[in-house]
Amino acid sequence: MPESEEISRGLEDVNIKWTRLTTIDGEKGILRYGGYSIEDIVNSGAQVEEIQYLFLYGKLPNEQELKNFKENIEKGYNIPEYIIDTIRKLPKDSDSVAMQMAAFAAFASAETKFKWNKDTNREVAAVSIGRMSAITANVFRHFMGMSPAIPEHSDSFAKSFLKAAFGKEPTKEMVDAMNTALILYTDHEVPASTTAGLVAVSTLSDIYSGVTAALAALKGPLHGGAAEAAIAQFAEIGDENKVEDWFKNNILGGNKRLMGFGHRVYKTYDPRAKIFKSYAEKLAKNNQEAYKLFKIATKLEELGLKQYSAKGIYPNTDYYSGIVYMAIGFPLKNNIYTGLFALSRITGWQAHFIEYVEEQHRLIRPRAVYKGPEPRKFVPLKERK
Ligand SMILES: CC(C)(COP(=O)(O)OP(=O)(O)OC[C@H]1O[C@@H](n2cnc3c(N)ncnc32)[C@H](O)[C@@H]1OP(=O)(O)O)[C@@H](O)C(=O)NCCC(=O)NCCS
Repeated sequence: MPESEEISRGLEDVNIKWTRLTTIDGEKGILRYGGYSIEDIVNSGAQVEEIQYLFLYGKLPNEQELKNFKENIEKGYNIPEYIIDTIRKLPKDSDSVAMQMAAFAAFASAETKFKWNKDTNREVAAVSIGRMSAITANVFRHFMGMSPAIPEHSDSFAKSFLKAAFGKEPTKEMVDAMNTALILYTDHEVPASTTAGLVAVSTLSDIYSGVTAALAALKGPLHGGAAEAAIAQFAEIGDENKVEDWFKNNILGGNKRLMGFGHRVYKTYDPRAKIFKSYAEKLAKNNQEAYKLFKIATKLEELGLKQYSAKGIYPNTDYYSGIVYMAIGFPLKNNIYTGLFALSRITGWQAHFIEYVEEQHRLIRPRAVYKGPEPRKFVPLKERK
């Protein structure tokens, strides 16, 4: 029996692993990947593939290493027929993340020979990143009523994905915004999704089951689902002039939470939200619907900050990301914005799984404090009144 009966509700401030991957200073609003600040990475113009490599190999790649890595990702583009069929047999109004789960569960079902192995883990993870690109493009194409398509070789992961999703060459601006969004969502230490995946792989279940478990946790509106819930709330308000009344009736006077605000770790402005906001502002000017929502979002942000900043509740990464996705061309539909979050986060999930399984593996099995009845005699059904 554990000695203490104390419970850490929501596992707040519990360390479940050490990591070299990501560090967050929630008080100062600092996020670093492998020691590099998120602002430096984005301002350098890096491709997300360099960051994916950094997460899996612990260093930035040179040109040859990057080329080999991209080839491994591209091996994942050609997803088998049964994955496409799995997606396309689901109803067209399905949730995007649940469809991604079905596809990864199908991989877990079919690839029974998977073994955790230091010599192959990283290559498998790179292939899974490529598979996630093909899966996400096909999830999108399915609910949009388009035929299947898979990503093809190009000079960038973001470009191959957008071309497969939309079926046409994306503009440079779209590729740049998608590449940045992919970088910003790559990893965030051990949020609910990463932890759920870690619990699954701590049993030495396979990597695809780990991704499926992580997707299940990402889907909820308190985590990744907020990417869609935040913009849905701007759409619900519908007009810049209605922001104040909506805030009064729904947030102050109602029981709704301001979606895209608040974070378990950040007690100040999320550094990713600042970058998303600048992209949202730049891109939305060319998209009427996105611009209308951007104006609503900024006005709502002001009210939210006035009300909540003293409590350490600020915009998080999901507040403006949906506007960026909308300006790239993804409609507010089927929770695809959370699916796009997952397309990026699969890198962080797998990097944490590998770090855990290879270097610090132990079954994750916590305890619960029993508060039920004292021992009592079981009464058979027929004798029960
Ligand atoms: C992310 C989140 C779940 C973290 O919450 P947490 O650390 O578990 O904090 P709690 O839910 O215990 O909330 C603490 C307090 O802040 C308030 N709060 C937190 N986020 C809030 C929000 N977005 N809107 C209004 N109030 C909020 C809670 O009502 C609670 O108030 P109380 O102390 O008066 O009861 C929470 O901020 C939230 O629900 N945000 C909205 C969803 C979202 O954007 N999620 C994406 C996260 S990246």
